[in-house]
Amino acid sequence: MQNNILQILEENPLIPVVTINDLNDIDKIYIRLKSKNVRCIEITLRTDVSRESIKLFKEKYGDDFKVGVGTIVGAKDVQFCIDNRVDFMVSPGLAPAMIEPLEKSGIPFIPGVSTPSEIIKGLECGWKFFKFFPANIFGGIDALKTYANIFPSVKFCPTGGLNERNYKDYLKLDNVVSIGGSWLSK
Ligand code: 3PG
Repeated sequence: MQNNILQILEENPLIPVVTINDLNDIDKIYIRLKSKNVRCIEITLRTDVSRESIKLFKEKYGDDFKVGVGTIVGAKDVQFCIDNRVDFMVSPGLAPAMIEPLEKSGIPFIPGVSTPSEIIKGLECGWKFFKFFPANIFGGIDALKTYANIFPSVKFCPTGGLNERNYKDYLKLDNVVSIGGSWLSK
């Protein structure tokens, strides 16, 4: 399911969400993440150097790290991931035009949801692993506990507002496989 995203999530309970503004920061980021025993990175598509930084990170550290791409918002972004053989894809949402490209890419992917209706749309696609985003704004741990009752088969990767103090509480939940956050690389 979802091109086996579960394996990526299970092997990487902490997923650093990293926005790179300067290609010279790549080595620093790699060293910092490695020192925290993290072996994966989600590089967002949010800056002028995003695409180049994903290519460079993969070229330099792809043997050691799972290199994923975040902020996937359309079929073009999926094509970039296919062309560059990235290890996984993360979207902040779930749009009809992305369903087929994501499925056909062969690359593990996790779409974003925040509300029950969005979860139902995801279930209709035959999916059950979602990024819960932005977790802190959409009810955090309480919302996830409620979703566990309503959608017992669904598992989440909460992201947004997580930090050093609260991430362990999220990871304790049975319907949370991994968590994401930008603080991990800082
Ligand atoms: C994301 O894209 O997942 C968020 O920017 C990460 O949220 P955070 O900065 O609150 O960790």
